[in-house]
Amino acid sequence: MKNLKRTHYNTDLSVNDIGKQVCVMGWVQKQRHKGALIFIDLRDRTGIIQIALGDHTDREVFETAKKLRSEFVIAVTGTVKSRGKDVNEDRKTGAIEIDADNIVIYGEAQTPPFEIVEDSNVNEELRLKYRYLDLRRPSLNSNIIFRHNVQRVTRDYFYDNGFIDIETPNLIKPTPEGARDYLVPSRVHNGKFYVLPQSPQLYKQLLMVAGFDRYFQIARCYRDEDLRADRQPEFTQIDLEMSFVDEDEIYEIIEGYIKTLFKKILDVDIETPLLRMTYDECMNKYGSDKPDLRFGYEFVDLTEALKGCSFKVFGDAIENGGLVKGIKIDEDFSRKEIDALTEYVKTYKAKGLAWYKNSETPTSSYSKFLTDEENKKILELFDVKTNEAVFIISDANPEVVYASLGALRCEIAKRKDKIPKNVYKLLWVTDFPMFEYSEEDGRWYAKHHPFTMPNPDELDKYLNSDPSKIHARAYDIVINGWEAGGGSIRINNPEMQQRILKFLGYEEEIANERFGFLLEAYKYGAPQHGGLAFGIERLTCLLLGLTNIRDVIAFPKVQNASELMSGAPSVADKKALDELGIEIKEKK
Ligand code: AMO
Repeated sequence: MKNLKRTHYNTDLSVNDIGKQVCVMGWVQKQRHKGALIFIDLRDRTGIIQIALGDHTDREVFETAKKLRSEFVIAVTGTVKSRGKDVNEDRKTGAIEIDADNIVIYGEAQTPPFEIVEDSNVNEELRLKYRYLDLRRPSLNSNIIFRHNVQRVTRDYFYDNGFIDIETPNLIKPTPEGARDYLVPSRVHNGKFYVLPQSPQLYKQLLMVAGFDRYFQIARCYRDEDLRADRQPEFTQIDLEMSFVDEDEIYEIIEGYIKTLFKKILDVDIETPLLRMTYDECMNKYGSDKPDLRFGYEFVDLTEALKGCSFKVFGDAIENGGLVKGIKIDEDFSRKEIDALTEYVKTYKAKGLAWYKNSETPTSSYSKFLTDEENKKILELFDVKTNEAVFIISDANPEVVYASLGALRCEIAKRKDKIPKNVYKLLWVTDFPMFEYSEEDGRWYAKHHPFTMPNPDELDKYLNSDPSKIHARAYDIVINGWEAGGGSIRINNPEMQQRILKFLGYEEEIANERFGFLLEAYKYGAPQHGGLAFGIERLTCLLLGLTNIRDVIAFPKVQNASELMSGAPSVADKKALDELGIEIKEKK
């Protein structure tokens, strides 16, 4: 059989091509046989075009067309014709069709486990098991191509700005980023393990010591952590590092990137410089270090106004060092809605939800327990108008107030359909705390990572007395309520690095064993440096207006970290395990 050569992708053809002899290739979306006529919808990665056969078609070709079923792979040669008045407005190629003079079947197909169409009611598991079929679906297919374009614009931008693209190894020693590592046993070094990188963090810092000055990589990262809508165990970072810079120069490069990306990909102008907000301000106003600024509902702090309040729910919380905060919503709420929201905040450990509704006859869950003065103060602080509602949460633990009211703010915006479409609210979150304490583990952790530069004055002042007061020179870039990227200025002297590691529980010997190569490198001239990494899946999702990063990953993993199509992870061969000196014990 002579190999045909494609002349066009389907949607490259238009009325301008009428009369042309063409060859297209793809999958049969649908074949309709109507007496003397056959119509085939042919799909390729760009879209669908109609193929037509009739009385005038060669009989052998007509017989071939009769055999076609959905998902057969074919090549068609023929002439582009106008569809006259019979235009399909929903299709880019709706005004034309190809009058076939030859059809070659390249591959037959069984009936697929689900039809390759949008909005079919097929469960996700089946889609993932047959991911290569689901990827034929135009929307998923175009997400993957969209991501490719994001990557292309990204590479161009960083190359144009003098960044050197350098690969770093994937079999490495652990770099702590806060998640569990994936371990890879070494065959040659019995009993020893590599880990897969959670990020290229230490390598990119060493590339600064090596003098590359501006490094960039689209890097695969691996973290054994619980999967969520914005998290996968395997993901990809747009990773960069720069020497001789401070925060402002990094912000400038990143803002330039964001501006270029949004313009080239969406034709949207992002105004720079971006808004900057400190971590404390974010928590106080939105209860989150990644606030969604597409809607208002800023927190109003009632703690001061309600000091000494006899209503125990508020009074006790304040007396025990807690907070009373609320949000005002320009909407009415039914009792049923309020009950549902009360249940919702309980999932964030709030004990309850106090509310006030300024409808025709104002009603409230708390007013009768407060003095007139206190009630008046609350309404004044919120500046409540007709048909507005107020929701208040108090707790002795400020974290509970932040988490529950922060989540409520977003949930109400969702339920009341208050999140505007195609709006992008970006900000830098700055001045993060350097450390956070884990009650569970009874120890301090680095909030970003241990290589982040702390504020040196605060370090000396508080490391031994109140480490929570030390700020880090770390920053996140937040888009529409998602942490799209994060980074920091790094420590570049071995003594300070040693001190931080020691504080985090790495005794000198362990620190040397694990990070000795970095500490050693700093002795040979390390420039000041800093950088940042974006999650490319999150960024792509945000640009597409999607809510789960799975939809921009060709072969994603599911909740329990398995990949349903290939069935990974799987049992290892006995021989391979023997070579590694590994015996599998039942997990306790
Ligand atoms: P961080 O841990 O904040 O920083 O990660 C940077 C960005 O990577 C993305 N990300 C993820 N995306 C999908 N699934 C995951 N499991 C996942 N984890 C993180 C997020 C996040 O903002 N080395 C530092 C960066 C630096 O300091 O330069 C780091 O990895 O978008």
